[in-house]
Amino acid sequence: MDKLLIKGGVRLQGEIRIAGAKNSALPILAATLLTHETVQVCNLPHLFDITTMLELLGCMGVQPVIDEKLNVEIDSSTIAHFSAPYELVKTMRASILVLGPLLARYGEAEVALPGGCAIGSRPVNLHISALQAMGADIVVEDGYIKASVDGRLKGASIFMDMVTVTGTENVMMAATLADGVTTIENAAREPEVVDLALCLIEMGAKITGQGTDTIVIEGVKELKGCSYSVMPDRIETGTYLIAAAATRGHIKVKDTRPDILESVLSKLEQAGADIKVGDNWIELDMHGKRPKSVSVRTAPYPAFPTDMQAQFTALNSVAEGTGSITETVFENRFMHVHEMNRMGAAIRVEGNTVIVDGVDNLKGAPVMATDLRASASLIIAGLVGENETTVDRIYHIDRGYECIEEKLQSLGAQIRRLPA
Ligand code: UD1
Repeated sequence: MDKLLIKGGVRLQGEIRIAGAKNSALPILAATLLTHETVQVCNLPHLFDITTMLELLGCMGVQPVIDEKLNVEIDSSTIAHFSAPYELVKTMRASILVLGPLLARYGEAEVALPGGCAIGSRPVNLHISALQAMGADIVVEDGYIKASVDGRLKGASIFMDMVTVTGTENVMMAATLADGVTTIENAAREPEVVDLALCLIEMGAKITGQGTDTIVIEGVKELKGCSYSVMPDRIETGTYLIAAAATRGHIKVKDTRPDILESVLSKLEQAGADIKVGDNWIELDMHGKRPKSVSVRTAPYPAFPTDMQAQFTALNSVAEGTGSITETVFENRFMHVHEMNRMGAAIRVEGNTVIVDGVDNLKGAPVMATDLRASASLIIAGLVGENETTVDRIYHIDRGYECIEEKLQSLGAQIRRLPA
């Protein structure tokens, strides 16, 4: 397994470009199953999770075509199977996103039940009950969700008991082809849900309310092809900004969207960063100063994102003062804490909160990545730490960060990949 070798202590400086958002690209690729016309998806990030989704489409008989600009054209009219096998679902839980589109368009779907993962049990009961409310017959047997419907799904009023991002996306996609109007209440308001809605609207769907907690979808008989460019990745953006703040650096990130990062930018300002923004860029300058500790509490958008808390834990670990990080979305998302403590951090876990006493500096050590965002936080810790840090199991990072070592190198970091 590849590892990353980092020699810490360099202030990050320079400019980088942000890739397309993984969490928008995945549902948009799944949405291509809703039409027999060709959909072109542009600004796809170069990530392992994207390859997995393309492979999943491939194993159903759909052959995505990649052009020289890395745009992907998908014509799903060749589909031959309506099944997402366990081998793919176990490597990427977001495979569940094909359930709604398959059921809505072909009246049947079999998707392996995603198991637990490093950050908690992550059930999909809300996806299932919402589709049942729309008339689907669903049984869970032999480790698979087996769904079918006679004719079209029916519009329904759905209240989501919890705010779920992929749950909202699955139901919204299914509802585009349902008979009648579907209302999703307590819907996720994440920008990636909005991006998917905008792509579906380009395909001819009738959707309103995206970005609020009530989304209304009037089903249509069929959708058409379109060309859609995926929005920038706000989590990748935030990760580089935090890395720059932790190393007391000065960077500019381009091709991004400051308007969807408000909670993160305000925490970085509290940490002492000088931040300037333009339409599609963010510049962060620490003026060489040590960051100050901040406290965050994760919650669904527009509150502070759970996908950014591990990186702030790394920032707090070398900041002045004590900060707390409270996780309210997932049950077990602190695996990185023990690894950071091995690097000399002073972090303790109290229930769903971690208390971080900032230390003067971390010391390099061999550490192990446990999930995608935890890996990013360990890289940040390695970038500030004295001496060398090796981060093992970086296949997690390749799932969600495009060319991370090249981008960090272009900011001056001393980081390289050690092939297995
Ligand atoms: C998505 C993101 C992930 C992010 C998360 C929360 C994608 C591909 N992934 O994951 O990066 O960390 O949102 O912002 O977009 N829940 C249930 N039953 C369900 C569904 C969810 O109890 O049927 C619970 C989950 O266990 C969790 C909470 O709801 O505690 C939120 O999870 P959810 O928003 O569904 O996460 P994902 O969509 O899987």
